[in-house]
Amino acid sequence: MGSNRSSFTGKIGFVLAAAGSAVGLGNIWRFPYLAAKYGGGIFLLVYIVLSVTFGFALMVAEIAIGRKTQLSAISAYGSLDKRFSFVGVLGALVPVIILPYYSVIGGWVMKYMVGFAAGHTSQMAEDSYFGNYLGLTWEPVLWFLLFIGITAVVVMLGVEKGVEKVSKVMMPILIGLILVIVIYTLVTMDGAWDGVVYYLKPDFSKFSMMTVVAAMGQLFYSMSLAMGIMITFGSYIKKDISIEKSVKQIEIFDTGVAFLAGLMIIPAVFAFSGGNEEALGQGPGLMFVTLPKIFEAMPGGAFIGAAFFVMVLFAALTSSISLMETVVSIFMDKLKWGRKLSTLAVLGTSLVLGLCSSLGYSVWAEVRIIGMQLLDFFDFFSNSLLMPVVALATAIFIGYVLKPKTVIEEVELSGPFKQKKLFAVVIRYVAPACILVILISSILTAFGVFKI
Ligand code: PHE
Repeated sequence: MGSNRSSFTGKIGFVLAAAGSAVGLGNIWRFPYLAAKYGGGIFLLVYIVLSVTFGFALMVAEIAIGRKTQLSAISAYGSLDKRFSFVGVLGALVPVIILPYYSVIGGWVMKYMVGFAAGHTSQMAEDSYFGNYLGLTWEPVLWFLLFIGITAVVVMLGVEKGVEKVSKVMMPILIGLILVIVIYTLVTMDGAWDGVVYYLKPDFSKFSMMTVVAAMGQLFYSMSLAMGIMITFGSYIKKDISIEKSVKQIEIFDTGVAFLAGLMIIPAVFAFSGGNEEALGQGPGLMFVTLPKIFEAMPGGAFIGAAFFVMVLFAALTSSISLMETVVSIFMDKLKWGRKLSTLAVLGTSLVLGLCSSLGYSVWAEVRIIGMQLLDFFDFFSNSLLMPVVALATAIFIGYVLKPKTVIEEVELSGPFKQKKLFAVVIRYVAPACILVILISSILTAFGVFKI
């Protein structure tokens, strides 16, 4: 890449592109179901604490490594220290695993978008609709193929910029729609405020190791950390851009959207089901079961529902494109394949893995890996095992081999690094210790010692 490495035109360009990659299904689909499942307020609290310490330090570190080395992740670690090239390789594996199941969920979003546009609001609001739909076997597979097909075409033609432009317009509309839904739920629905209390008030008796494991996995996922993406982004930015400020802006934006998505879904779960354990612990289907009920109750709900899912689709596409682009650029760099061939190769792997995730809800519904359905397993494997390993290795590498000083100097090229003390302490001590505990818990979970 080196010589033809493009660069962002300015700070805003960089922050927006990074935010476009960060904001996606992770914020809108994944965050609310985890917050609902792992204790509401306590999950939110743990998430925010992790985000301003851990997420901050890791994102600064990744962007700085990228800018310093001018390389993408897979080569960046190796170029700094041969012994750590494995971190780049492991990090590169993460998007390979996430992209397929991400696209399966992208397919669900498309199905719901079309469903509302066709006015099927009341059928979609039925409790059994989502489960029945997943059991249809081939229809979800077709939507998955369409979603990943669109992603592949965009990456193959190299027209990401176009999608990003559209997405810039869509993002504020999405946030506006979320606010409308939040206000509508809180004003009109009985029981919704109990959900607000559940979501905002930390209940320490609900704290468990799984709260931290889930919150940390979510942090990596949502901020696109521990998979080399931010390193690649860093390699595109100029030396006079403040890494610290940019990271803060990306964090606030990403966490803000996730927070609002939680506020849109959790109070509604309380309004429709009284917040019983089963409803809160539904997992991946939560958004798809809860939102149609709100749209059914709302005047103009079919239209708002369709519009909402269009916006979510664009947010999801900018993320899936950035996931696929990461893997494709690795193939291009490492194997010297052309863009088309690399995209086709990535598409091929994704089809196989995505098909498994999708069929895991229908013909392979009985299949369990360490007690999980296939999609959940891929999600757990990447977020709770692979990413913590990459993050741990990154923290050790920066804290003890490269030394925090190297990153601090890179950040200071554009002015003072205000939180450098926090950065150094987190990267050397807090991060390695926390991640180690997380990894052990994840492994124990995988062996059935902990309940998920
Ligand atoms: N951060 C994205 C989201 O929240 C997912 C993603 C991960 C996108 C990694 C790109 C790279 O949906």
